[in-house]
Amino acid sequence: MEPLQLIATTAFGLEAVVSRELEALGYTERTTSDGRVEFTGDAAAVARANLWLRSADRVLVKLAGFEAVDFGELFDQVVELPWAEWLTEESSFPVRARCVRSQINSEPDTQAIVKKAVVESLKRKWPRDWFDETGPEIPIDVTIRRDQVTVSLDTTGRGLHRRGYRIWTGGAPLRETLSAALLQLSYWEPGRVLADPCCGTGTILIEAAWMAANRAPGLGRGFLAEEWPRLAGSSSEGAWKNARQEADDLMVEPPEVPLMGGDRNPKALDLAKRNAEQAGVTAAIAFEQVAVADFGSHHKYGCVVTNPPYGERMGEKKEAEAVYGDLGRLARRLDTWSVYALSAHKGFEAIFEEASGRTGQVRRRKLYNGPIQCTYFQYAGPRPPWM
Ligand SMILES: C[S@@+](CC[C@H](N)C(=O)[O-])C[C@H]1O[C@@H](n2cnc3c(N)ncnc32)[C@H](O)[C@@H]1O
Repeated sequence: MEPLQLIATTAFGLEAVVSRELEALGYTERTTSDGRVEFTGDAAAVARANLWLRSADRVLVKLAGFEAVDFGELFDQVVELPWAEWLTEESSFPVRARCVRSQINSEPDTQAIVKKAVVESLKRKWPRDWFDETGPEIPIDVTIRRDQVTVSLDTTGRGLHRRGYRIWTGGAPLRETLSAALLQLSYWEPGRVLADPCCGTGTILIEAAWMAANRAPGLGRGFLAEEWPRLAGSSSEGAWKNARQEADDLMVEPPEVPLMGGDRNPKALDLAKRNAEQAGVTAAIAFEQVAVADFGSHHKYGCVVTNPPYGERMGEKKEAEAVYGDLGRLARRLDTWSVYALSAHKGFEAIFEEASGRTGQVRRRKLYNGPIQCTYFQYAGPRPPWM
């Protein structure tokens, strides 16, 4: 099989993290643009990227990139793509379109035109009036950015953040992919003490526990491309099986170092414990019902990685600000620790720094928690003696 052009999509701001993850998986040819990292690979790469990427949203197979400024051009280019190599007579192929700063700017119309062009192309191979679309799903992703069209197939299906351990998806938990990214953007590494004193449903700690066990985050779920004839069949036979076997083999016994979660809300903690159980990491994480003001540890050189409340709703702002002060005093008590906090609150830095005494030490990174623009505030502590 020819090498595939693959795209790992990600939240804006996390491209470098995903690129590093791909490097660690051995994919050296990469280019990065807003929200995507392109790389080349084979059927095994599709399986391995889906199984292992912690901070990406999806893995796409790129079929083509071209310029189009009207629907005629779009149709003419799409109809010529080798659809019959990927789709069968039975495939279901929903089309998803996104248009950004382009002359073609109607997403529903783009979807309709692309669908029509694909049907037209399939009819050339299988003459008939209608395709039932009862077979495996092969979603078509069309992104038009500044008149540049990218046509891809979504190998993932449900987003990669759906690891399979979250008991309940209500509330405002931090996405698994973003949680994993926060850890990778910090000095935390397996073997180092970690605390999240506003742990909510425990996502950051569960992701850390999986990283410490070198567990592939996708091991407990399925992916659409597992059912695709082109990737599951002959030439790439066993790619998924081999990738799953490799992931099983690479799991390790995690270092015996505490991962600590605190939250003052017993309901959130209950969910955190159930999520941890579902993820198989109950023994790795110590959860405690405790307010930030009372949180403590006798360990040295640990890392706090946390997502305190933002105080977005009226009346909650003051409460959130009080938590930032408590976090600052915690940072003062844990004076050998590094502290990392994601917040959308403009006042975080001033309040935290006054309370912690860590004035002027911050590094900031702009990240998105869904649609909310946040800052990841990073306060590195002293270098541990073993580093
Ligand atoms: C934005 S949520 C964290 C979400 C979490 N990252 C997750 O994945 O579910 C903030 C959490 O801080 C907790 N919290 C608020 N004030 C607190 C305080 N003073 N002490 C401890 N926890 C607090 C809330 O109960 C809530 O669970």
